[in-house]
Amino acid sequence: MPPVELRIGLIGCGTVGSAFAASFVDRKSSLEQLTGKRLRLARVAVLRPHLRDPRLAPAPLTGDAAALAADPTIDIVVEASGAPNAAEWLRAALDRGAAVVTANKQALARDTTLLAALAARESRLHCEGAVAAAVPIVRALRESLAGEEIHALRGVLNGTTTYVLGRLEQQRPFADAVSDAQREGFAERDPSDDLSGADAAAKLAILCSIAWREPVTLDRVHVRGIDATVSETIAAARENGGRVRLVASAQRNGHLYASVEPQVLDGADPLASGTGAHNVVEVRTALAGTLTWHGAGAGGRSTASALLADTLAAARTLGRARPAAYPAGALR
Ligand code: HSE
Repeated sequence: MPPVELRIGLIGCGTVGSAFAASFVDRKSSLEQLTGKRLRLARVAVLRPHLRDPRLAPAPLTGDAAALAADPTIDIVVEASGAPNAAEWLRAALDRGAAVVTANKQALARDTTLLAALAARESRLHCEGAVAAAVPIVRALRESLAGEEIHALRGVLNGTTTYVLGRLEQQRPFADAVSDAQREGFAERDPSDDLSGADAAAKLAILCSIAWREPVTLDRVHVRGIDATVSETIAAARENGGRVRLVASAQRNGHLYASVEPQVLDGADPLASGTGAHNVVEVRTALAGTLTWHGAGAGGRSTASALLADTLAAARTLGRARPAAYPAGALR
């Protein structure tokens, strides 16, 4: 019997989507070996299909993301557009039985149905790339810590602000530090999402929904971002060996309290350790104590790594229509 073929539709071919397309093409045969299925990048939806470099998207291009999401021949929808209305596409794909892989934290965090699907650990919805890129915190909360009681979580989840705060420590003017972050490809299309704390708040809402198995909507996250005045706090913190970071934290002790705000951290605090697009996440659990993950939390290649892993996970669970590989009685 020929192997099952799964058709992948990619929405968005900017920094993250093009890195995903390029690494998918590079690794296609090893991904197929790992899943035992044929994988085809069948269609790519972009804003301006006529302008795109065909080397970035080796599949037919379309300008209609909604039609791609609704297309019954697409088995896995990989969404890397960052579009604010992407939630509709993701819901449509899930409703018709497809698997969804997304890096779009705002689409997830602003949509109660999708947050509820994450809280219910819907097996066809994958979003490792939406939080801390390839740092495997979503998978850890969903799977590795599935039997745990999570007491609290705390993290530096926005690379742009860490990068900007690091530049301010080196006396770089605020506006220049922000444009440096945009040039590096970390900042959102509108960097005010990073600076206001909205980006970190969306990531925190996703993590809380998974950790505590209830949809934690954005209105439950208290948010305060950074602006040019943070330089004064940085200077004062430095005198005491401290550093300022935009910290996202949540704890549940009967009541859930979640916030994103700039905090002065002790220089030895693991959350103070990173520079650039470094993210850190610390989870406090009942049985395993405190666990920490860290690594690059933004950028095309690291987010593409998470999208690839999620695509593999989706491919493994789809197309299981074949008969069991073992003859009857073989496992007795
Ligand atoms: N703008 C985000 C950040 C990109 O700076 O962390 C990754 O989500």
